[in-house]
Amino acid sequence: MTELLLIAGICIAVLIIFRRFVSGEKCKSKTKLHGKTVIVTGSNTGIGKATAVELAKRGARVILACRNQVRGEVAATVVKRESGSKNVAFMQLDLASLKSVRSFAEAFLKTEDRLDILINNAGISLHGTTEDGLGLMFGVNHIGHFLLTNLLLDRLKECAPSRIVTVASYLHNFGKLDFDCLRKHKEFGLGESYIDTVKIYSHSKLCNVLFTHELAKKLQGSNVTCYSLHPGAVDTDLARYMNKTLRRFVYRPIAALFFKDVEAGAQTTLHCALQEGIESLSGRYFSNCAVQKGSAKAQDDALAKKLWEVSETLSGLS
Ligand SMILES: NC(=O)c1ccc[n+]([C@@H]2O[C@H](COP(=O)([O-])OP(=O)(O)OC[C@H]3O[C@@H](n4cnc5c(N)ncnc54)[C@H](OP(=O)(O)O)[C@@H]3O)[C@@H](O)[C@H]2O)c1
Ligand SMILES: *[C@@H]1O[C@H](CO)[C@@H](O)[C@H](O)[C@H]1NC(C)=O
Ligand SMILES: *[C@@H]1O[C@H](CO)[C@@H](O)[C@H](O)[C@H]1NC(C)=O
Repeated sequence: MTELLLIAGICIAVLIIFRRFVSGEKCKSKTKLHGKTVIVTGSNTGIGKATAVELAKRGARVILACRNQVRGEVAATVVKRESGSKNVAFMQLDLASLKSVRSFAEAFLKTEDRLDILINNAGISLHGTTEDGLGLMFGVNHIGHFLLTNLLLDRLKECAPSRIVTVASYLHNFGKLDFDCLRKHKEFGLGESYIDTVKIYSHSKLCNVLFTHELAKKLQGSNVTCYSLHPGAVDTDLARYMNKTLRRFVYRPIAALFFKDVEAGAQTTLHCALQEGIESLSGRYFSNCAVQKGSAKAQDDALAKKLWEVSETLSGLS
């Protein structure tokens, strides 16, 4: 009997230590944000919502930029309750529509005085096309954020020192930019299988890292800095579109044991948004609350420049 209790105790202890290990590093910054304004895209759930709660706790005015009005308003209520702050507002933004990105930016610039931190967090892992005929993952994860950032850049410069944080993924390492394919299909790769989804998602995440690399160069001397990051493997709704059987019997058990919860998943975003003294690392890629070496591909100057030009055309900026 006592042996059984002992074994059970050891198992629980091992599980607790293991889960703490899974959680990874915490953002150590004590930065407060009273009087500052922050936008978090895709913040009605997952990592974005956990990020919004923490930023609101630190005193920021937090704008939840989400595509669905009902989900966005419900989230605003929850973020207010969980943070104890009333300074939280929902504004509609559908990154799968360039028109929606433009009207969001217009409304934001008209109604808000400041922008101190822009967090490009929204992401999707699903086949399809955007309103403008772009591949859905490429259009939402990259092009929508590209346009949004550019439209808000002057306000960020006025409020400098300010920051732009883009949530990428470790999977960017498997991404590839096929500009020929893009010219034909306005999306990186085509396909329907699950493996195709992962591939195209990875391409879009490579775009996030390269975008940040090029943006940092354009922002030199402005006191606006930018960072991309991998949040870790996080137990969120990102797999909501996965085949039900696969999700239930493969994804769920793995996620429950090995994935971070959303609070742990928000830590590297928070580090990039808040940590003092990382300004000289502008343009770099972070993981586990630390800058990473980054692959050659993700720091390829020519590739980043070409992606920027293509993105200007596809987003209607030039
Ligand atoms: N979870 C992970 O393990 C992991 C790993 C690496 C990177 N990431 C990245 O982390 C970020 C956050 O993802 P998550 O894991 O928290 O996933 P999530 O729970 O699925 O949240 C994604 C958010 O993006 C929003 N979104 C999707 N399409 C949008 C659109 N067209 N316009 C505006 N918002 C849109 C979603 O809104 P709806 O609720 O309306 O769909 C949701 O709020 C993503 O960029 C993802 O790629 C996640
Ligand atoms: C950037 O910040 C430094 C230090 O605070 C300041 O001296 C400089 O004028 C700022 N530059 C711009 C363009 O705002
Ligand atoms: C999910 O995938 C499995 C295995 O590939 C397949 O047998 C099943 O029919 C799929 N289920 C749905 C709902 O698509």
